[in-house]
Amino acid sequence: MSFCYAIFGATGTIGSLLMQEILSCSSNTTVHAFCRSREKLLKCINNEDHKARVKIFEGSLDDIELLQNCIKEANVIVLAIAPKGNIPNNHLVENTAKNMIKAVQSLKNIKANRIVLVSSAGTEHRFMHANSSALFLAILDRALFHVYRDLEAAEKVLRANESLIPSTYVKPSALSHNFGYNPYRKPSAKNVFKLDFQNANFPCSYFDFVHGVMEVADEKSDLYENKSVATNSIGKVSFPIEAPVQLFVGLVVFYLPFLCSWIY
Ligand SMILES: NC(=O)c1ccc[n+]([C@@H]2O[C@H](COP(=O)([O-])OP(=O)(O)OC[C@H]3O[C@@H](n4cnc5c(N)ncnc54)[C@H](OP(=O)(O)O)[C@@H]3O)[C@@H](O)[C@H]2O)c1
Repeated sequence: MSFCYAIFGATGTIGSLLMQEILSCSSNTTVHAFCRSREKLLKCINNEDHKARVKIFEGSLDDIELLQNCIKEANVIVLAIAPKGNIPNNHLVENTAKNMIKAVQSLKNIKANRIVLVSSAGTEHRFMHANSSALFLAILDRALFHVYRDLEAAEKVLRANESLIPSTYVKPSALSHNFGYNPYRKPSAKNVFKLDFQNANFPCSYFDFVHGVMEVADEKSDLYENKSVATNSIGKVSFPIEAPVQLFVGLVVFYLPFLCSWIY
């Protein structure tokens, strides 16, 4: 029997890789991809067989009817939406969570047994205490202040509605495109990641992360229900070289918010 993933943010870095891996790992999977641009979404799919298994829902996250159509036949809902950066007063993910709950409430029968929110360990510092100093956490919290507050607010909305539909909050530390220093390490879905209820190691690779999200989404039991879980790479992953610049830009906007529209 086929398994359908509704992915919101399917054109994003995480959403598009997740979609590709879901379609590559099994021929029995389908994706309902929610996006703002069909054209951009189609560029994220590189194979005709995969295209045939993707149904595209193009439009606004405020269109509850479109959200309903996207989720009503899905087995799991993944929210991988993100704003462009540390934008003050941004409520994008929170509003998406609110609209998703409205959509779920107004559907009589919903197949989906879970919402998976792609969040960040920065919203729950206990995940990072073992690996990070207080100074680093303070810098991180300012550099991504508005992103984290939005994710926290979204989690609050979903937690308040866990009796309607359970949720899982997947929280990696920084993500890296690089697989590390071992040239023999090829991406493979086996034994590359570990889901962890205690620690988020720095960094996790994008590839490993999306496989962790898939494991959470596919889990039949209630193991991850209504819980926060970190994803860790098992192998060596190299430092995301873009991170210092992103942190610096986030800090500038935190202290000088009037520069936001010029920067992003
Ligand atoms: N990247 C990391 O290192 C990292 C680490 C930890 C946690 N996370 C978390 O992972 C989540 C996803 O991150 P990402 O790196 O995949 O983000 P991303 O590449 O920036 O993708 C963001 C997605 O959200 C969509 N989006 C943005 N604004 C929208 C709007 N107004 N309406 C509809 N869709 C909208 C984008 O659509 P368009 O393509 O149309 O713009 C895109 O599909 C975020 O919550 C982030 O905080 C990321």
